[in-house]
Amino acid sequence: MTVTIVGSQLGDEGKGGVVDLYGDAADVVARYQGGDNAGHTVVHDGTKYKLSLVPSGAVRGKIGILGNGCVVNPETLFDEIDTLRERGLEPDVRVAERAHVILPYHRALDGIEEAEKEDLAAGTTKRGIGPTYEDKAGRRGVRVGDLLDPDVLRERLEYVVPQKKALAEEVFDKETGEEFDIDHLYETYREYGERLADENMTVDCGTFLQERIDAGENVMLEGAQGTSLDIDHGVYPYVTSSNPTAGGATVGTGLGPTVIGDGEVIGIVKAYLSRVGTGPLPTELGGVEDQTPDYEGDVGTTADEEELATYIRDEGGEYGTVTGRPRRVGWLDMPMLRHAARANGFTGLAVNHIDVLAGLETVEVGHSYEFDGEEIFTMPPTTEQWGRCEATFKSFDGWPEVDWAAVADDGYEAIPENARTYLEYIADELDTPVYAVGVGPGRGETVIVENPYE
Ligand code: GDP
Ligand code: IMO
Ligand code: MG
Repeated sequence: MTVTIVGSQLGDEGKGGVVDLYGDAADVVARYQGGDNAGHTVVHDGTKYKLSLVPSGAVRGKIGILGNGCVVNPETLFDEIDTLRERGLEPDVRVAERAHVILPYHRALDGIEEAEKEDLAAGTTKRGIGPTYEDKAGRRGVRVGDLLDPDVLRERLEYVVPQKKALAEEVFDKETGEEFDIDHLYETYREYGERLADENMTVDCGTFLQERIDAGENVMLEGAQGTSLDIDHGVYPYVTSSNPTAGGATVGTGLGPTVIGDGEVIGIVKAYLSRVGTGPLPTELGGVEDQTPDYEGDVGTTADEEELATYIRDEGGEYGTVTGRPRRVGWLDMPMLRHAARANGFTGLAVNHIDVLAGLETVEVGHSYEFDGEEIFTMPPTTEQWGRCEATFKSFDGWPEVDWAAVADDGYEAIPENARTYLEYIADELDTPVYAVGVGPGRGETVIVENPYE
């Protein structure tokens, strides 16, 4: 069977931790979209792994697949594999021949266009994700399978690179270097192709996974990003360029929708909101310069709100892992979650980070929105409309700081009562049971209510 792990908000909900938690019963873990824009954390026995491309099942020694829906930067993939090997893991990663390759010009153009876009910029990770998916849709991309065939690789590069060079130089008026040089790219990417072939790393993803399922094995599908970052169902244009939603799991692996639908789809929920990037956020607390629209330090916010935002940010470690920049934080947004539950068809929920909110007197939730004088319960279709929504809050009594590791051992009933009230409200509103509750970053700091593989 399959278990699909999907972010229900804006990324960083703790998907990596849940993949690791349930990964024991899985034989294969496959990513179905995104690329090295992801950062999935697994913490076990005090050791922390931050994974960008290698599927999170690697920590448990499971086979990892990068599905055809992914965009793969071979340089970061091999760096990550090598680093994990140095740390004592033995990652067994296979890459779909149909997956698209991120080339250096994609990264360069990502940075150039972000600077150009100003108010429309999403604050991308500058990994070349958008430009690579653009070329995929434009039918001028380079696929992993092309790296194995020197003639095809050269033909593809000879067509596309002059266009990219002209775009950078003539439209954006930028100087270009070896990232736009056909011979350099050809040599470098042929070497990656040779390593992929030597290490027997490429697969026909759908066939590979279906054969495993037919043999009775368990497959886990690891989503990256989150529903509100989905190119179709998210807050366009402040989104990524792929489909993190559950439909992406079928298109991005080659398994049929009935196969995915026969399994479980688990929505990962952070007990509050965090956001890296720009665009509206109706339940935002305080704000962050350069990310919160029109933020000038005190507009539309109060000192209390800023203090609360700082508290949650510090407790939850909501600072960029690379840049150290503060992330935007806010209260849980129920219209966003209702939208996610519908778009993904969740069969279960994992609610993480309830420990982060411990110690607060009250915990608020954006229950609905006031939109042009009406109360609405789900997200409107355009981001401009979403920006006009004012959250209507519901208050919950807070819960105390407790020994969370002991709670994880003792089970659901050991969770403080007010936190259970909060969890049950979420489950009721989404009409979906809670399968797991995250009470800390480690594998052992999760209350397991249900194991989807059992
Ligand atoms: P992902 O991108 O969805 O895999 O999430 P990230 O790994 O980017 O971000 C989640 C962060 O929260 C990581 O540092 C995790 O170790 C941590 N984390 C996950 N679950 C919990 C939880 O229940 N409580 C706390 N305090 N931290 C958690
Ligand atoms: P994980 O898998 C949080 C955000 C970026 C930006 C937008 C587009 O760790 O949850 P991109 O580089 O994809 O073109 O950026 O999406 N973003 C993420 N935010 N977690 C992620 O991944 C993200 N991946 C992309 O900040 O706003
Ligand atoms: Mg992350």
